[in-house]
Amino acid sequence: SYGIERNNSMGVNLANDDHLRTLAEQVNAATKSDWRATPLVPGANVTGPNIAVTNPADRRETVGQWQAADSATVETALNNAVNAFDAWNATPAASRAAILEHAADLLEARMPQYIALCTKEAGKTIPDGVAEVREAVDFLRYYGAQARALFKPEALPGPTGESNTLQLSGRGVFVCISPWNFPLAIFLGQVAAALAAGNAVIAKPAEQTNLIGYYAIKLLHEAGVPEAAVQFLPGDGATVGAALTRDPRVAGVAFTGSTDTARAINRALAARDAAIGVLIAETGGQNALIADSSSLPEQVVKDAISSAFTSAGQRCSAARVLFVQDDIADKVTHMLAGAMAELKVGNPGLLSTDVGPVIDEDALKMLKDHAARMDTEATRIGEVEVDQEAAHGSFFAPRAYAIGSIDVLHKEVFGPVLHVVRWKADQLDNVIDAINRTGYGLTLGIHSRIDETVEKISSRIKVGNCYVNRNQIGAVVGVQPFGGQNLSGTGPKAGGPHYLPRFTTEKTITINT
Ligand code: NAD
Ligand code: ALA
Repeated sequence: SYGIERNNSMGVNLANDDHLRTLAEQVNAATKSDWRATPLVPGANVTGPNIAVTNPADRRETVGQWQAADSATVETALNNAVNAFDAWNATPAASRAAILEHAADLLEARMPQYIALCTKEAGKTIPDGVAEVREAVDFLRYYGAQARALFKPEALPGPTGESNTLQLSGRGVFVCISPWNFPLAIFLGQVAAALAAGNAVIAKPAEQTNLIGYYAIKLLHEAGVPEAAVQFLPGDGATVGAALTRDPRVAGVAFTGSTDTARAINRALAARDAAIGVLIAETGGQNALIADSSSLPEQVVKDAISSAFTSAGQRCSAARVLFVQDDIADKVTHMLAGAMAELKVGNPGLLSTDVGPVIDEDALKMLKDHAARMDTEATRIGEVEVDQEAAHGSFFAPRAYAIGSIDVLHKEVFGPVLHVVRWKADQLDNVIDAINRTGYGLTLGIHSRIDETVEKISSRIKVGNCYVNRNQIGAVVGVQPFGGQNLSGTGPKAGGPHYLPRFTTEKTITINT
């Protein structure tokens, strides 16, 4: 446990119909049509435009609006953060931790309200909403507990007549830039770590999920974080995000999103005439699942479906390519098609729904373009019906295609599309090489009952998270520290013991006594 004492959040028994029905009713009661987000920047006179938020499952339904930060508000936020840093950094780590833990308690108690936001703004199903809130709660408690453990000054051994101590401190102003697919968990995870470490934080969520971000930061203020120590700054990546990352007052950036954006931020930080900025980047993947002939086809199919199609495939961890050994490939593909036909695609607010909408029309177009290409170049394996009532939403029904090689996929396809590649017994090395050759290194699934095969694959594959004989999504905070390597990110892993120290700077004090 690396000295981190805390418990993960309580779950909801999704197998219990009564519990689920009660939760669905609470979520329904918490749903609004007039949620509103504005920049939370003390002293700013915000003049940016108001933008309507529509439900991804039904574009006719407006659920709220958000106001974008203008350039003067960005400037005010940066000045506020610089001014707020010293006091927040001087607040004892145990007090910072207590505030984050209080926020965790508030969030846990208001789970239905935040699930409602996740469903209506991000199209999350109710089980995904539960997981989202729980992960956010876990991050708040985990980094709080870690700050308590880490920020104790550490006496170091030294010669007689000298005392040496190592102290940690926040770095300064930290910018947290997050994606829409985990609008609460990743958003609050980054912010919680940066705050726990003593930094003043400017939080910029993805354009698609500003309502969730706003209510998350309001909750931190309510729990006791000073308003200037964590500011909410909604806006476009290309304008607000880019303005923040090129600013010399910024000490570091925690980023989760696409590999291309991480590169742009890295360049912006490096181009500044300023102290060397820290970048923590968690990015995309081209994740594979390797199944050999010793694996159980039923389990392979169950875990492939879960890994590829949960959250409409909009997880960086999702399986994109199933490598199945020839001997069991016919059986697996037949069962895969059958299991896919059972999936219910539609309204994420209904308990019967397995797959909700994709985030927006741009995502839908990208998926349709990919499917059009696959329909000419590959063989369709399985297909799913979309509920007729879903006609007004951004829905893309899960698909599976047989392809010849992972090399035909030039980039991450961020949605519910699984590609299947067959391999022969003597080709395992080629499979591992092909996966490593993509340059991505986030998750890998292995299905095999042969220890030597598991050992060979897991030792040679270059990924951050390797899952054996189970699904490959849903890393748990403090249990499966999460994050990739190479094109998939810089590390350190979120929800792991090395994450929070990256938000700090170290000082050694040597006293000649
Ligand atoms: P994105 O890169 O388009 O956007 C992410 C964030 O970056 C948004 O807040 C956006 O406004 C901001 N941004 C865009 N351009 C910017 C710029 N020039 N400067 C500063 N900020 C800028 O990604 P997305 O579409 O929101 O998210 C999906 C991607 O995130 C996928 O590639 C997915 O694999 C990845 N992801 C990775 C992880 C992980 O832990 N590795 C987790 C979730 C998502
Ligand atoms: N942490 C998320 C998962 O493991 C991305 O699915």
